[in-house]
Amino acid sequence: MSISKTVNSIEKRLQIERLLGATQIVAPSAGSDVVKGLTQTPKSLPACYFYDDRGSELFEQICELPEYYVTRTETAILQQCAGEIVKITGACELIELGSGNSTKTRILLDAYQELGYPLHYLPIDVCAGILETSAKQLLGDYPSLQVYALAGTYELALAQLLPTQLPTRMICFIGSTLGNLTSDECNVFFSQITNALQVGEYFLLGIDLRKPKHILEPAYNDNQGVTGAFNLNMLEHLNHRFEGNFDTTQFEHWAFYNEIEHQIEMHLRSLRSQSVELRALNLKVNFALGETILTEISRKFDLNTIQQQLTAQGLLPLHVWTDRNQWFGLLLCQLQA
Ligand code: TRP
Repeated sequence: MSISKTVNSIEKRLQIERLLGATQIVAPSAGSDVVKGLTQTPKSLPACYFYDDRGSELFEQICELPEYYVTRTETAILQQCAGEIVKITGACELIELGSGNSTKTRILLDAYQELGYPLHYLPIDVCAGILETSAKQLLGDYPSLQVYALAGTYELALAQLLPTQLPTRMICFIGSTLGNLTSDECNVFFSQITNALQVGEYFLLGIDLRKPKHILEPAYNDNQGVTGAFNLNMLEHLNHRFEGNFDTTQFEHWAFYNEIEHQIEMHLRSLRSQSVELRALNLKVNFALGETILTEISRKFDLNTIQQQLTAQGLLPLHVWTDRNQWFGLLLCQLQA
């Protein structure tokens, strides 16, 4: 009886909207982004294809790796400053881009709950599976929480945010996902943010900062091979989604820090000369021995430069928090008139 009551009330507090057909969630252009990436030189693939159910699960494992300082450091900063954030924003709807398992978001939800504010959460993720699982867990743990989840790309989700019922909103973009965009993509992204927000609303940004190579490289080359498995899983995902025949034993994970560009570059390297077909895309691709596919960049930021960029876009940084080592930065920005 009490169980079915809880389930019922969870259902009532949960809405999930798929912005695209279930099979197309990460392929707004039905794979044309894959065709484009694999037919250009050098080859590349869009990072959103990492996140099928298995990929999302592997990413959660990455976040717990001893070498991957990013999640731990950002979590510690959030724990320190969540109270201050809540005091600044007051009652506030939380919108999160790339919410994954929403673990770090709980710190914010706790802080809003503590001051008795209503909890309205809009997680956005390309992986509908993890969105649903995490939303249900959150609803079980926060009895007054309302969740309105959007499965889709940031671009689509940001373009159709509805006005909030609460006094203000905050878009949270944490985990240094900003670093996974090129600097051109970053400018487009910032304008999508400023278009989605009303003047006075907030943008919370978590970014990984520059640090020595010997700390950065192991974070993307862990000893247990989880990052490698995560990278290779993208090929499995493409096989599944586009009737492909990538043989994942014939590619290897390769990641390094490019000190000139200040970015980690992650590739898949072909272990022999081979050809691969993606039948649903009518695509045949040849790989030379040692040829690589760029699957992700992870840019590392300079705090002053990013603050200038945000200010220039009308997103004024009100507060910047960092850890003792200055490894990671959390910026609370407000949209100016
Ligand atoms: N935003 C994360 C980062 O840039 C994403 C990430 C972490 C990642 N580890 C990864 C992506 C490994 C691919 C592979 O740090």
